[in-house]
Amino acid sequence: MIAKTKPGLKIGAALAVLAVAVLIGGGPLAATQQAAPAAVDVSKLSKDEIETLIYERQQLMIQIDKDSELLGEIVAGIAPAAKLKETTAALARDAKESHGAFSMKVPGGRTKPEAWSNWADFSKRLDAFVAGAEQIAKLGETGSVPAVNDVLGEAMTCKGCHDLYREPKKPTT
Ligand code: HEC
Repeated sequence: MIAKTKPGLKIGAALAVLAVAVLIGGGPLAATQQAAPAAVDVSKLSKDEIETLIYERQQLMIQIDKDSELLGEIVAGIAPAAKLKETTAALARDAKESHGAFSMKVPGGRTKPEAWSNWADFSKRLDAFVAGAEQIAKLGETGSVPAVNDVLGEAMTCKGCHDLYREPKKPTT
């Protein structure tokens, strides 16, 4: 009995080892692929290049701020509805570009390091922001101010992200 059981056990153990090897082999690979967007290596960049990248993402955010303010004025009837299409299109484009900009791990500016250490959550918020802005742009194309107004509040997820991932403004002296 013992002689018959032993080989069986060995095969079982070998299969188990194989299964573990497959799991180990597959696990980190899948994780690496998921984390890839944040893993852009910027350690070889010069100080100037780093400053430029931070400046660029800040300029994008400033433009996003201007366009969402204008959009608020259009919805409120203060700014002309004729600007709806170009404003919503610009917002969608800049939201997408900001996603690309933040995909480079460049600590600095007012971005908290958590943006990249919590990349799964931060990038999910970027995805949601991009999707919301794209939805607004689609509705903006129809020229319907009420349709844009209906989704605007839900799509403008600015504060939720800033509260978690943006440093408070440093006092200017
Ligand atoms: C997914 C996260 C996220 C979303 C969504 C987001 N922001 Fe930001 N925003 C940031 C981060 C991070 C910074 C800091 C950038 C830096 O200095 O490195 C920032 C910076 C800014 C700044 C300051 C720019 C400067 O340097 O003066 C403004 C203004 C701004 N955001 C407006 C907005 C508006 C308006 C929206 C929504 C329509 C928005 N943001 C959506 C993350 C986000």
